[in-house]
Amino acid sequence: MESIQATKQRFGIIGNDPKLNRAVEKAIQVAPTDISVLVTGESGVGKESIPKIIHSLSHRKHGKYIAVNCGAIPEGTIDSELFGHEKGSFTGATATRSGYFEVADGGTIFLDEVGELPLPTQVRLLRVLENGEFLKVGSSAAQKTDVRIVAATNVKMVDAIEKGKFREDLYYRLSTVEINLPPLRERKEDIHLLFRKFAADFAQKYKMPTIRLTDEATDLLLKYRWSGNIRQLRNVAEQISVLEQNREISDETLKHYLPDMGSNLPAIVNAKKAESDFSSEREILYKVLFDMKRDVNDLKKLTLELMKTGNAAKVKEEQSSLINKIYSGENEAEEELASIIDEETNGTQTDVEVFSIPEHTSEQRKDKYEYAEDIEEEENLSLQQKELELIKKSLEKYNGKRKDAADELGISERTLYRKIKQYDL
Ligand SMILES: Nc1ncnc2c1ncn2[C@@H]1O[C@H](COP(=O)(O)OP(=O)(O)OP(=O)(O)O)[C@@H](O)[C@H]1O
Ligand SMILES: [Mg+2]
Repeated sequence: MESIQATKQRFGIIGNDPKLNRAVEKAIQVAPTDISVLVTGESGVGKESIPKIIHSLSHRKHGKYIAVNCGAIPEGTIDSELFGHEKGSFTGATATRSGYFEVADGGTIFLDEVGELPLPTQVRLLRVLENGEFLKVGSSAAQKTDVRIVAATNVKMVDAIEKGKFREDLYYRLSTVEINLPPLRERKEDIHLLFRKFAADFAQKYKMPTIRLTDEATDLLLKYRWSGNIRQLRNVAEQISVLEQNREISDETLKHYLPDMGSNLPAIVNAKKAESDFSSEREILYKVLFDMKRDVNDLKKLTLELMKTGNAAKVKEEQSSLINKIYSGENEAEEELASIIDEETNGTQTDVEVFSIPEHTSEQRKDKYEYAEDIEEEENLSLQQKELELIKKSLEKYNGKRKDAADELGISERTLYRKIKQYDL
């Protein structure tokens, strides 16, 4: 059996934490079987390596490995993407198409963010897990497939089950073996190690001397909560590597890069910038603008939603409290918006769709809510232009990798997906 150290090296996994080692060991042990595995852990802890390890160490290693981000595929097309469809089964289905479960026959499918699967898709998935059978959309002829499934989630599946969003029977099928990755804050020994590794990588990438933390800064690094885990640590290391001229980083400087610890806008606060830094400052400004645009849009949507439900008095009250929240920088504002909209619409919308303006409102808006349209048009021209630019830039930077681009933009992959459609990118 391949050793834990060798596997970590092969897959670029840094760290020596016992819980991390146990997770890798479990992956190695379970790999040669066909058992379904559920990888759990907070966002950014490194879940994506586990299914790769499992596939590469299994007898399926010469078969296909397909990673599907269940959260990024629109509900309307996910069945067809996973299971394929028959010609003519829906508008636009001009030819028969094979889905991932057919293509990956003999291989492994990684279902990332499995908690996001719509319920009807969960039923189809359960059938595959139970007897290796599936139906193409629009077909009644069952097909066989031999696919190993590894799933991952960063949400509490127990909560999702309680809320009726995830089938309990499917959960047990998927999680025959569960591999949990610990959050970074519980891997104290690894934090500095990872930081040094990233600092060295970015120094090389940007051809600058490696940044070094003072003792106080190192203490702060270990105390910080790292809710975005390794992804966040890596981003912080990259930002500092690019933006700080003085390569010895004090705790005061570090604070600027840690949300809740000081300012979130290092480049703007730190005014001593060489001219060559102009473009990164501009990028950060764009980003701020982008966030503000989102907030404004959310507000407008809230207004429209509330007006539709006819509770105008409440609109004002809620709006002003939300405006206060948004501009005081509290990040619960979005959740608050979502929950208010949910309440107002009796919870008929899903979490993801909350922020999209329903198409059918355009007619109603024309007569009743003209002023809302006016505000919208003015802002939209320039803001949309900026948004489009930002998205393009980000996609280019990450060679079209939607996940990375969405991360950078601070929006969900699903939202990015919709924007790409909207702007026809
Ligand atoms: N132990 C590690 N050593 C080096 N890099 C790591 C390690 N763990 C994670 N990373 C890096 O951190 C980033 C985030 O990891 P990954 O994408 O696997 O997170 P995740 O757990 O899938 O998060 P999410 O739930 O948000 O999808 C990746 O760039 C990954 O390469
Ligand atoms: Mg992931």
